[in-house]
Amino acid sequence: PLVSTKEMFEKAYKGGYAIGAFNVNNMEIVQAITEAAKEENAPIILQVSAGARKYAKHIYLVKLVEAALEDTNLPIALHLDHGADFETCKSCIDGGFSSVMIDGSHHSFKDNIELTKRVVEYAHKHNVTVEGELGQLAGIEDDVNVSAENASYTQPEQVEEFVKSTGVDSLAIAIGTSHGAFKFKPGQKPKLRFDILEEVEKRLPNFPIVLHGASSVIPKYVDIINQNGGKMADAIGIPEDMLRQAAKMAVCKINIDSDLRLALTAGIREHLFAHPDHFDPRQYLSPARAYVKELVKAKIVNVLGSNGKA
Ligand code: G3H
Ligand code: 13P
Ligand code: ZN
Repeated sequence: PLVSTKEMFEKAYKGGYAIGAFNVNNMEIVQAITEAAKEENAPIILQVSAGARKYAKHIYLVKLVEAALEDTNLPIALHLDHGADFETCKSCIDGGFSSVMIDGSHHSFKDNIELTKRVVEYAHKHNVTVEGELGQLAGIEDDVNVSAENASYTQPEQVEEFVKSTGVDSLAIAIGTSHGAFKFKPGQKPKLRFDILEEVEKRLPNFPIVLHGASSVIPKYVDIINQNGGKMADAIGIPEDMLRQAAKMAVCKINIDSDLRLALTAGIREHLFAHPDHFDPRQYLSPARAYVKELVKAKIVNVLGSNGKA
C-alpha cells in the first residue's frame, strides 16, 4: 500500500537526506521515476497537481501509481501538489492519496491557518499527512501566478504559531526558490536564504521542511532542447550544491517537476529531429523516458542522498 510521508520524513530528518517529490502526469513519467527509484532503492513521493488531475484524470493517475507500487514494492507516497481549497484536498483524500498539500500561502496568515487546520482535521481522520505553506514563491502554478516582486520569503516569526495551531505534518517555505525553468535572471547569481531556513529549523526542531521550485534546470537537457529546434535561452535553476546543503538541514522533501519536463522534452526533440519520418509515439517516448529515468537516478544519488533508504 501507499505510505504516508510521516515515517519517510522522520528517517530523512535523522539521516540528513531528503525525499524526492516528483510530479507525475502520464505513464512514461511514472515509470521513469519509479524504475529509477527501484534501481537506487529509494523511497519517493509521487505528486499530482490540479493540472495533472485535469490532464490525465484522477483515476488514471491513482491506477498508474498503484501499478508502480506493485511493480517496485517501494515505499511510495501519493501526494496532492498545491491543493488550492478544502474540496480538492478532500477529493484526493477520499480518492486514495496518502498525503496532500493545502496551499494557503496567498491568503492572509489568519485565513491560511483556518483553511489549513480544516484540511488537517479531515486528513488526519483518514491517516493522510498534510503539507502547509508559509511565504510565497515566484513563478507559475495552475491557479496562481506570483511575480518576482510579489514573492515573499517566509517570516520565521510565524512558523511556530502556524504549525501549532494547524497541526500540519510538514511546512513548505519560501527562501528564494521559484517554480519553472527561469528561476534567476541571466547574470544574476543564484542565492537561497539559508539564514531563514536556519531560523525556521531553530524554531521548529525536528520538523520536516519542504522546498518547492527546486529544479536545477540541468544544462545538458536544455542544450539538447536548444540543439534540436527548441528555444529556451537563459533557463536557470537552483545549483545542486545548494540543494544538497538544504537536504542536510531540515529540508526533508524536495519538489522537482521542471527538470522532468526538460529531460522528457529533450528526448522527444532529439529523437524527432534525428528521425523526421518517425511517427510511432513509442519510438520517441522510449528515449524520452530513458532521459527522465537517468535524471531521477542522478537526483537520488547526487542531490537527495535517498539511495539505499527504502
Ligand atoms: O508547482 C508547480 C508544478 O510544477 C505543477 O505544475 O500545475 O503545471 O501541473 P502544473
Ligand atoms: P520546479 O518547477 O522547480 O520543478 O518546482 C516544482 C514544484 O515545486 C512542484 O510543486
Ligand atoms: Zn510547488
